[in-house]
Amino acid sequence: MLGPVLLAAARSDSIRRIVAATPVTRPVVDRFIAGERLAESMRVVRDLAARGREITLDYLGEDITDPAEALRNRDAYLLLTEALKTQDLGERAEMSVKLSAFGQALPGGHELALKNVTPVVEAAAEAGTTVTLDMEDHTTVDSTLAILAELRRSFPQTGAVLQSYLFRTEEDCHALAGEGSRVRLVKGAYNEPATVAYQDKREVDRAYVRCLKILMAGQGYPMIGSHDPRMVAIGQELAHRNGRKPAEFEFQMLYGIREAEQERLVAEGHRMRVYVPYGTDWYGYFMRRLAERPANLAFFLRSLATR
Ligand code: FDA
Repeated sequence: MLGPVLLAAARSDSIRRIVAATPVTRPVVDRFIAGERLAESMRVVRDLAARGREITLDYLGEDITDPAEALRNRDAYLLLTEALKTQDLGERAEMSVKLSAFGQALPGGHELALKNVTPVVEAAAEAGTTVTLDMEDHTTVDSTLAILAELRRSFPQTGAVLQSYLFRTEEDCHALAGEGSRVRLVKGAYNEPATVAYQDKREVDRAYVRCLKILMAGQGYPMIGSHDPRMVAIGQELAHRNGRKPAEFEFQMLYGIREAEQERLVAEGHRMRVYVPYGTDWYGYFMRRLAERPANLAFFLRSLATR
């Protein structure tokens, strides 16, 4: 029941100020966020790479209100691309972007986001790395998939995210299961209405399996974005059934979550990519992590109580 409340709080500026001003927030945030600065997060990336992980980096900058912020976010990603290139990490680390951080929610946002994200995708290709477009709330899906299609004309390696909680997603999986397509399948992290999304977790899980079957049987490159042991096991089984080799799909988990399981999958020879967020605008991301798992929230509340 707390999930929707926390997801609503994730969008509230006044609650953002209270949470940010609470002294114990910081250590809890640090569990999920690699750092506020690029240099700190690159240390985390090098450490993960040394331990056999692949990485996708997310510069936290969603929910902007002004086109100048979109340019700052674009420039932050260009700096990141440069760092990946100079540190020779292009093959191990890619980037995840939220189009809202590039202006998608502003007036004329579709065109603005496409214009702002294109130089990042170009720079990524030059640096030998790729970009995946994160998926946000359901009102953005059409625009995000249209931007993906546009980018893929010149950069077919650009990745997408699909969320199994949306009724439309099985169809989107069919559309994106073709050759060269890279799709991260997740359950979905936003507060969506019953008109567009399954509300019951079991329904979301069943939809996840149906979607994964489509992607695994297709010609593209499926990216299994889940910490759920059942989804991981089903992913392995479907890969086996479809004759996919370890290099033909990957698992993805968020930084700071289920590290032992990440280790185990790497030891079994799987590609295991860690989603590493960094930057100062961590609030929305942090609240979605608290909302999706009572244990994360309990950890936060315990820190408050033991102060
Ligand atoms: P879920 O929360 O359904 O939990 C199922 C089971 O998994 C639990 O019962 C437990 O066994 C295990 N588990 C889950 N979390 C755990 C933890 N912290 N510790 C130990 N066990 C745990 N969403 C979105 O809307 N757009 C996006 O672009 C992305 N991008 C993204 C990238 C990556 C790499 C990941 C992993 C996830 C996302 N998400 C996302 C978030 C996603 O939609 C979803 O909210 C979370 O992954 C939670 O769902 P799970 O499938 O992980 O497990």
